[in-house]
Amino acid sequence: MEKMWAGRFEKALDKKADDFNSSIRFDCRMYKQDIEGSLAHAAMLEAKGILKKEELDAICGGLASILEDLESGALEFDMNAEDIHMFIEAELTARIGDAGKRLHTARSRNDQVAVDIRLYLRDVCAELRALIVELLCAVVDKAEEYKDLIMPGYTHLQRAQPITFGHHLLAYANMFSRDIGRLEDAVARMNYCPLGSCALAGTTYDTDREMTAEALGFDGVMGNSIDGVSDRDFCLELLSAFSVLMMHLSRFSEEIILWSSWEFKFVELDDSYTTGSSIMPQKKNPDMAELVRGKTGRVYGDLMALLTTLKGLPLAYNKDMQEDKEAIFDAVDTVKMCLEVFIPMIATMKAIPENMYKAAGQGFINATDLADYLVRKGMPFRSAYKVVGQTVALCIKKGVVLDELAMDEYKAQSELFEEDLYEEISLETCVKKRISEGSTGPASVEKQIACFKEKIKELKA
Ligand code: ARG
Repeated sequence: MEKMWAGRFEKALDKKADDFNSSIRFDCRMYKQDIEGSLAHAAMLEAKGILKKEELDAICGGLASILEDLESGALEFDMNAEDIHMFIEAELTARIGDAGKRLHTARSRNDQVAVDIRLYLRDVCAELRALIVELLCAVVDKAEEYKDLIMPGYTHLQRAQPITFGHHLLAYANMFSRDIGRLEDAVARMNYCPLGSCALAGTTYDTDREMTAEALGFDGVMGNSIDGVSDRDFCLELLSAFSVLMMHLSRFSEEIILWSSWEFKFVELDDSYTTGSSIMPQKKNPDMAELVRGKTGRVYGDLMALLTTLKGLPLAYNKDMQEDKEAIFDAVDTVKMCLEVFIPMIATMKAIPENMYKAAGQGFINATDLADYLVRKGMPFRSAYKVVGQTVALCIKKGVVLDELAMDEYKAQSELFEEDLYEEISLETCVKKRISEGSTGPASVEKQIACFKEKIKELKA
């Protein structure tokens, strides 16, 4: 195919260089957005008297038929085209003749690509947002299901204090809810229209950029034509938001992998989200969670790749920027795939209450509560902390836990210990007595669940 710019050159582009330069194999996914952008641009040109009514009609008809044929499969992308913008323009001109050649008045591919990618990402982000909301629902439902189930809470992966599984899951609900906020913020900042920036300096035609921005659903026009074609911040912001989301999914995955091991056996994943081993018949592997954890690295890679690509670029457009699309497309595809598997994996995950409860009963998880008991009886906290430390050491020597140590042994540690201590340090009491805002106590967990349910309603509205 002859290049659009062939007039300036004596020789054709080398075949390998041509393939190297071409982006159609990955930017073809923006065909719909490219057509949408062209329709808005053409309508504006006609409204401003730059195109005739018949020309606009021909362009609209031609673009509509191209869209239809691409969607039905009657028209295939020409992999010899330089990019999706060139492909559609060439196809339009082939179909309607001269009017097609007028479409590119007062615009450049630089603003075309900047518009297309924004429109594309706006659509994809709406899908991803809906998926994260769905994830949030699944997590909150699980939290409600297990709001009373006692398990050990950890720091340093050492048993620390008893919590409920519901409380633990709600920590993730908070993270995912912030992930939704980050995505929304990035989309809101992205939603300004670069169309009409042209190559970089604007145009001598009397265009109406507000009109195209409005027709394409943007919140306004980008205020500087050089920025309009140079800015890829929005890709970086989205990649950052995706990276944080993936980091959360990865931490959650890591816990699920640990909990699924025989060392913990706190949860059982549904068969449909686990795999067997080719050699070890007993295995049930949490592959989905491992892959989500693994793919997190890939999304971070996309962010690093684009940050690095952009860091040395002079204004305005440089061909390096064509690399933005593979990075952001890979990230959106990866995040979508991960969410689509992660959500049902969580929804079908079952806790094994006996194992969680048993683990919570070991490891002196109620030691803080025993110290608080002495404090309530008048001892200063630091002294109580020391007495309980000595008591724990004694228990370890005797091979018992705090709940099993006899009263006379307690009395030898401190006269303040009395019979009521056993009730006070039971796991149920430890949890029930956590009354502070945001804590693991039942009233607090109920409140957190109720807040999330309200929030989900708003997010879905
Ligand atoms: N395929 C190009 C890209 O993805 C479109 C913009 C081309 N502009 C240019 N001046 N060569 O960035």
